Amino acid sequence: MPAPLAAIPTLPRDEAFAITADFLADTHPRKVSLGAGVYRDENLKPWVLPSVQAAKRVLNDLPSLDHEYLPIQGSEPFLSAARQLILGEYDASQSHVVSVQTISGTGANHLGAAFLAEQLKPRHVFISDPTWSNHHLVWEVAAPRVIRRTYPYYASSTRSLDFEGMATTLERDAEEGDVVLLHACAHNPTGVDPTREQWKSLAQVFKRKKLFAFFDSAYQGFATGDVDADAWAIRYFQKELFDRGGVSSRRPQEGPQEGPQGMCVAQSFAKNFGLYGERVGALHLVLPARTQTAGPQSQLLRLVRAEMSNAPLFGCRIVHTILSDPDLRAMWERDLRTMSGRIKRMRSRLRQELESHPRAGDWSHLEFQVGMFSFTGLTREQVVRLRDVHHVYLMLNGRASMSGINDENVKYIANAILDTL
Ligand SMILES: Cc1ncc(COP(=O)(O)O)c(C=O)c1O
Repeated sequence: MPAPLAAIPTLPRDEAFAITADFLADTHPRKVSLGAGVYRDENLKPWVLPSVQAAKRVLNDLPSLDHEYLPIQGSEPFLSAARQLILGEYDASQSHVVSVQTISGTGANHLGAAFLAEQLKPRHVFISDPTWSNHHLVWEVAAPRVIRRTYPYYASSTRSLDFEGMATTLERDAEEGDVVLLHACAHNPTGVDPTREQWKSLAQVFKRKKLFAFFDSAYQGFATGDVDADAWAIRYFQKELFDRGGVSSRRPQEGPQEGPQGMCVAQSFAKNFGLYGERVGALHLVLPARTQTAGPQSQLLRLVRAEMSNAPLFGCRIVHTILSDPDLRAMWERDLRTMSGRIKRMRSRLRQELESHPRAGDWSHLEFQVGMFSFTGLTREQVVRLRDVHHVYLMLNGRASMSGINDENVKYIANAILDTL
């Protein structure tokens, strides 16, 4: 008996996209959007990065530019530049990397989840609490048999990382081969990342317990303005988990160490190139040198072939053009600093505005959080009042995108927040 389509229940709207739709439909002249995770310039307009504009001119002038299919794995020159950007220089005799082009970061998360569910067959995937609103959905849809669990991440009492809770939970509850989703930098939604020392001790837990690290990198360059600094945790894990002896105790004479079976990185180019709609991404699967790559690669290609045959071409050409030309790359790094710098400035402007009112209390967390978002600490009721009374839109969990602020609206936003306190 076929299932009755007429009985399909209607799901609630996706919160992140619903906020944008509600904001666009609002006709109030002072409305403010702090909902969407997209960069806006000082006039609150979408910003096409000058480096991207320049790359498009270069591409336009190429007489031989065609529109053929890419191979199933995607564009090799793009993948090699993407790999270099996130993994830097690594010792290819110690670990192998299989890279596949994806539909932006979401596609990389999805492909990684589907591949691991089929091949690694972990019992659990551990996801930070809180996390990007799509992580649970991706794993629910792409890997329904993997049990989703959470690890504590944020202590709202101190507005800082609950490192103790995170490490203890992984140490106590994770089993060999479990997947642990980690935000490479600029954690969404909290804006709080582990310190380097904390990353180092996490790597020891992964090594000892043979856990599979799944790094989600959607904000490289947004946490510090420096792409290498923002990739530090990923590069450290690769060396520590897969180089014989690791970073901390290199013993090159010893044979290959038993450790995790691999790790992977979902890489998005949406935010750091402002290429949201072009859907440029990659999944990198890092395997110890003892593992042959042909099998895993063929399985990834099978999934890509079934899903989309091959990834889109235009956006990856832009990224590759920029990353392979020293002048364009320098220009892009300046663009990144422009974006991260403006966001930082808006963090301190909003804090100043709020704290200039004696009853506002301490808003220092706005400044020490990093990346695009601030986890404001506002409750659901306060967020609803901000929306309904003041036309200021943010996520119900209190996450606010700092790029929706400019010098012109910061006072209005601060006063609106004060009204909810
Ligand atoms: C943590 C995180 N991962 C992945 C993504 C994926 O974004 P996209 O699919 O646009 O690359 C986002 C976007 O908001 C994100 O915040």
